[in-house]
Amino acid sequence: MSMNVAIDGPAGAGKSTIAKKVAAKMEYIYVDTGAMYRSLALYFIRKGINKDDEAKISEAVKECDVTIEYEDGQQQVLLNGENVTGLIRTEEVGNMASSSSTYKAVRAKLLDLQRKLASENDVIMDGRDIGTVILPNAQAKIFLTASVDTRANRRYKELKDKGESPDLEKIKKDIEERDYRDSHRDEAPLKQADDAVLVDTSDMSIDEVTDRLIEIIKSKI
Ligand code: DC
Repeated sequence: MSMNVAIDGPAGAGKSTIAKKVAAKMEYIYVDTGAMYRSLALYFIRKGINKDDEAKISEAVKECDVTIEYEDGQQQVLLNGENVTGLIRTEEVGNMASSSSTYKAVRAKLLDLQRKLASENDVIMDGRDIGTVILPNAQAKIFLTASVDTRANRRYKELKDKGESPDLEKIKKDIEERDYRDSHRDEAPLKQADDAVLVDTSDMSIDEVTDRLIEIIKSKI
């Protein structure tokens, strides 16, 4: 049987950074489900669909085929055969993903793909509903979080390092709005599974969080 680790938590808690490191150390495949929602979001943006138009988005999602591949251990997301990995990390795509992922048709599109990956491989899968909906039987579940201030500061630094001129207050507001949307939607809201271990990364270094997660996973296998 494959080994499944579910990591859920809000945007900016460090899920992908940590999950990648843990996956490399444990020789599991890292599956970034947010990237899948982002690739669909890119499609809706390209089609000029409004993020609140559930009917149009539910139609358009039928035209999408999302697959993933690994290049040098890095996840690549393909949207209708096009590698969109480098195009989905913008705020615009993130905001569209947060809105469109509230729709049933969008979530249904990705559910089978995510479950299939987990049934065929040892995976560390990160997202919002992995421990609660996608992989309720995952052997290890972690809920990774951090304060809004910490997450906003991390994002600010990330953008600054990229040469952009970010606005900290706006980042904070966006994070609060996204948290609210992700955790108050009807379909698969962001919430800690009953059997998930809570890890607050606000005052922890990346190495400390990585070690803590490996300790948790090893205690479950
Ligand atoms: O983790 P991320 O920022 O790349 O995710 C983008 C959006 O996708 C996020 O706001 C909510 C949605 N998402 C989701 O609904 N379920 C997941 N398993 C992963 C992401």
